[in-house]
Amino acid sequence: MAVWAGLLLLLVLLLLLAAGLYCCYVRLVHAAYDHIPSAPRESFLFGHLPIFWRMMKKHELLHDLFLQWSKKYGPIIRVNAFHRVSVLILSPEGVKEFLMSPEYPKDRMVYGQIFNLFGVRFLGNGLVTDRNYEHWHKQRKVMDPAFSRTYLIGVMETFNEKAEELMEKLEEKADGKTEFSMLTMMSRVTLDVIAKVAFGLELNALSDDRTPFPHAVTMIMKGMTEMRIPFVKYMPGKQKMIKEVRESVRLLRRVGKECIEKRREAIQSEKEMPMDILTQILKGDALEETRDDENILDNFITFFVAGHETTANQLSFTVMALSQHPEIMERVQAEVDEVLGAKRNIEYEDLGKLKYLSQVLKESMRLYPPVPGTVRWTGKETVIEGVRIPANTTLIFSTYIMGRMERYFKDPLSFNPDRFSKDAPKSFISDESYSDLLGQTPLAYVVQTCMQEQQLDESLYPRDRLESF
Ligand code: HEM
Repeated sequence: MAVWAGLLLLLVLLLLLAAGLYCCYVRLVHAAYDHIPSAPRESFLFGHLPIFWRMMKKHELLHDLFLQWSKKYGPIIRVNAFHRVSVLILSPEGVKEFLMSPEYPKDRMVYGQIFNLFGVRFLGNGLVTDRNYEHWHKQRKVMDPAFSRTYLIGVMETFNEKAEELMEKLEEKADGKTEFSMLTMMSRVTLDVIAKVAFGLELNALSDDRTPFPHAVTMIMKGMTEMRIPFVKYMPGKQKMIKEVRESVRLLRRVGKECIEKRREAIQSEKEMPMDILTQILKGDALEETRDDENILDNFITFFVAGHETTANQLSFTVMALSQHPEIMERVQAEVDEVLGAKRNIEYEDLGKLKYLSQVLKESMRLYPPVPGTVRWTGKETVIEGVRIPANTTLIFSTYIMGRMERYFKDPLSFNPDRFSKDAPKSFISDESYSDLLGQTPLAYVVQTCMQEQQLDESLYPRDRLESF
């Protein structure tokens, strides 16, 4: 008995010692970062987490809190959670330093989490998640021709065909009485488009809502949201959802595999191939000494995930903004009528003439970015905006917040596409670094370089900066 009591006492002492050592470590971490401005920590151990938890309970957006903090504490802000401190970078100087250089890799904690989804290989080492710069660069170079002007001209037919189908569906629904989800419609059409132009697949998600593929993609997106809940894998109430998410990832990989095999057969029998993403991926793979089919499947899923919900959200937010601003809607309509008239098939050249529409899309992206930000890692100490950022720190970037900062945009919460007009008066610009901001932020990558480097609007996205990318 005495032995057990002794052991128990020893265990308690060891636990106390471990807790004490951990607290000393947290104290040291605080000392290394406390010079970086931020709101007061609510708790020594939890840091700012209690504030975030309260907000999440009320379904409030954390980015809005950080926007408030940026007014008070400036563009470089510290975020504490246990022994981890991340730094929010909201300045063009910081974005330029960290996002334009291969020196700062994607953060392992964040990107590593989506290698698998609930234990099933998901984005793996695809373009979005690849943390090895050499490997990423190789993949990216192989992919570029699939986003050339010639290729994009070639897929206009699909864009036209799917847009026509969407209009027919919307007409059916628009009886003036029935409510329906615009986002669902947009998700279906963008899924059909990406499947066709990237992989030559006819999904027909728009015309047939019972096909399993769209449902699987929806489940995967749900899984990506739910996986952020701590210990979700162990929650009994979530097991059904997790099982469905796993099956959905497997379904996508299975479809990808069949699609790849068919295309390989076609290539071998020297049939004429579309210059699409799949052909590019397979060409790149053929140059490798060892075949990496798992990596090909990673990219298959990556393009579906990266390419469809983003565009669906962008379109839906734009429709929302237009419905809130009838005068802007009228101007868009007038421009479309003038450029296209009664033309049914839109040509590639027409797109460049729709200048006001393009401004509307940029303004919608500024206020409602479908991907609010990104994350990087710095292994070396750096000084940004006069603030020293220690080595080995997670850096958070947010286009959502920067797009709403008065420092960069005058009257930032108003939807005003004229701020993107070539002749916009300087008064729309609150800060001289505004043009820099546009050239450097993920927003700029997103709008055009996200994949289609050849299509840069050089007035907004200076090519010299992007070439180093
Ligand atoms: C409005 C639409 C879009 C938005 C807002 C958007 C947003 C983004 C952002 C923020 C990144 C950087 C991610 C990071 O560094 O963590 C990114 C990368 C990427 N996006 Fe998009 N995207 C859009 C459309 C698309 C489309 C249509 C495709 C596919 C055809 C696509 C494919 C990719 C890929 C493959 C990457 C990784 C690029 C690389 O690292 O080389 N995206 N996107």
